[in-house]
Amino acid sequence: MAQMNYQRYKPHPTLDMPDRKWPSNKITKAPIWCSVDLRDGNQALEVPMTLDEKVEFFEFLCSVGFKEIEIGFPAASETDYNFCRYLIDNDLIPDDVSIQVLTQSREHIIDKTMEAVKGAPNVIIHLYNATSTLHRDVVFCFSCDECIKLAVEGAQMIIDRINADTSGTHFILEYSPEAFSDTEPEFAVKICDSVLDVWKPTPDKKVIINLPETVEYQTANVYADQIEYFCTRTRWRDSIIVSLHTHNDRGTAVATSEFGLMAGADRVEGTLFGNGERTGNVDIITLAVNMMMLGIDPGLDFSDMNRTIDIYEELTGMKVEPRHPWAGKLVFTAFSGSHQDAINKGRKKMEENSEAIWAVPYLPIDPKDVGREYEPIIRINSQSGRGGIAYVMETYFGIILPKSFQRDFLPVVKAATEANGTENELTPQQIFDLFDDKYINVLEPYGLKNFSEQQDSDQVSTVEALITDKGREVVIRGQGNGLLDAFVHAFSEYTCIDFSIANYSEHAMKSGSDSAAITFIEIENKANKETYVGAGVSSSVTKSSVRAVVCAFNRMINVL
Ligand code: KIV
Ligand code: ZN
Repeated sequence: MAQMNYQRYKPHPTLDMPDRKWPSNKITKAPIWCSVDLRDGNQALEVPMTLDEKVEFFEFLCSVGFKEIEIGFPAASETDYNFCRYLIDNDLIPDDVSIQVLTQSREHIIDKTMEAVKGAPNVIIHLYNATSTLHRDVVFCFSCDECIKLAVEGAQMIIDRINADTSGTHFILEYSPEAFSDTEPEFAVKICDSVLDVWKPTPDKKVIINLPETVEYQTANVYADQIEYFCTRTRWRDSIIVSLHTHNDRGTAVATSEFGLMAGADRVEGTLFGNGERTGNVDIITLAVNMMMLGIDPGLDFSDMNRTIDIYEELTGMKVEPRHPWAGKLVFTAFSGSHQDAINKGRKKMEENSEAIWAVPYLPIDPKDVGREYEPIIRINSQSGRGGIAYVMETYFGIILPKSFQRDFLPVVKAATEANGTENELTPQQIFDLFDDKYINVLEPYGLKNFSEQQDSDQVSTVEALITDKGREVVIRGQGNGLLDAFVHAFSEYTCIDFSIANYSEHAMKSGSDSAAITFIEIENKANKETYVGAGVSSSVTKSSVRAVVCAFNRMINVL
């Protein structure tokens, strides 16, 4: 067997922190959210967004509640510059929203960045330089001191320009040691503190220190250790907002961000649906819905997930995967019968007890809370059980199937799904049609035209019915203990097959335009003791029961 090339890799360092506190901490409030969709996200698109698309995306981000939005790298790209100017010149930035712009530590880039944001109400100037050993040794070929010098010089240039600014813009400063998680932890603290020594934040005028996991190299707990290490070692903790910026190379960006928050961070940078370089940035939607699920107000509104998906897919050209957390089209479906049954029971119990707190097995949140309907929750496939079928019939059509019908219908549904080719599943309507076909509309060989009942005494009725026998009209008569008994006698006598009613139930059907009753009848063939079920629907309960008897009888005849 061929082997994976695992010998080419070694684990990245972990931290020896026996006094770590974060694993016992809980997330109790939402972080400050910053969308980097229009920068980290956009730069990773095969076809970057046009100006109009960016404007629409920006407005959408504002509408869901983002107060900090990184809109680009204006000095590096003309389109980012133009977009920035467009937002400012057309007064499109709400007063409570800060635009964020990325800059490297180079004078002409900082100057161009400052020019790009001139006149904006609230601006976050985001300075970054890469600090990891790999970057220092391989990309820049410089020492730690030179790396610090680069960051500090940039920090100084920025603060000088802000101090000289007279436009009234409210500036917030941000510094990112790019590749923080792959940087020696003590060096990361040193370089950030050196920048902070220049910016001199205070508890009232904080600076954002963004600690990127530019590439995921380690398990999520290691990043949390790094965040706790940083938070407990920096000299400026009271005067900074610690921000997370995680990417998803190992598929754990959500976990790293959640652990990072437990480790003391205050802010999260990420994107909708995790768009971004390579495997993307952390998905802010997942994080926000996860928070909702912890009973925490996420401060962002994704209660209309379908609209969020539509806008995202249309503007980015990306697709939301069917199993994407909280958003994919399959995330509120249950294919297995036992899951369906459990969901059914959970929902019923919640309804019966008017429970306020959501607790339904296999459905960690109410799909309605993200704008999803119950409709797609359950589909029936060949793996589904009785519970799932009963659930669909009740939820979609208001038909409460008695146990005998559930038993009888299950193999019918399974056979239909198996015959259903590659899709191998049935929609609720297909299930209803199948039920209708098998139990309601069974009109051969006998059909019912009309009937009348005459009450001979309190106990005894006589029924006269016009039926069809393979299309030929026949009048049958019978006497019995009430209408149904009399009809059964009439039918038994005419067909010379002795049968009786073994089970009877009926209920009003809740759904549908006309109010109707459905009757479920189980008859027993007295000769072989076999039972057969049939159903009838009518606006009159008596009619629905007589129809049900005829259907059950036809079903018996058809198998005899
Ligand atoms: O991933 C990263 O490190 C970045 C920085 C520029 C913040 O996007
Ligand atoms: Zn990034």
